[in-house]
Amino acid sequence: MRHPSLIRLSHDHHHGLALALRCRKQALGQLKPTGAQGLKQRAEEVRNFVGVNLRPHFQAEEELVFPHMRDLVSESQPLIEELLKEHEWIRDGADRLQESSSLAKLLFDLGDLLERHIRREERELFPLFESRVTPAEAEKLKVEIEKILAGRDRK
Ligand SMILES: [Fe+2]
Ligand SMILES: [Fe+2]
Repeated sequence: MRHPSLIRLSHDHHHGLALALRCRKQALGQLKPTGAQGLKQRAEEVRNFVGVNLRPHFQAEEELVFPHMRDLVSESQPLIEELLKEHEWIRDGADRLQESSSLAKLLFDLGDLLERHIRREERELFPLFESRVTPAEAEKLKVEIEKILAGRDRK
């Protein structure tokens, strides 16, 4: 069971994994419509998901979860550095979808990156968080995360 403070983020991860799989399938021509039309549709879906869901999600992680983890578990520093780099790559990749001439490759790579990123957070970072955070800290964090994510609920 995910800790209540992380449930909203895990929910995004769940959707992100499904989208990552669709990206790879689309790139391999396994989803209809195939060809340029399907690639364009998938690229649009990714840009929308990153813009609406992942930007605030990344913000919540970068401003709240990561700094908290850094204070709590100093050994988590290298992992957090990697995760931050991946956030940049995902944001860059989504921006490049607009003008890319090799959409299939970009979608495949982005799907692959997104899946790896999410699995690292779910398998490494979140369990570490759950094993070290106190109930009071977690409750505070939950409220702060809700505040950041609340903006997108109104859209
Ligand atoms: Fe992340
Ligand atoms: Fe995440």
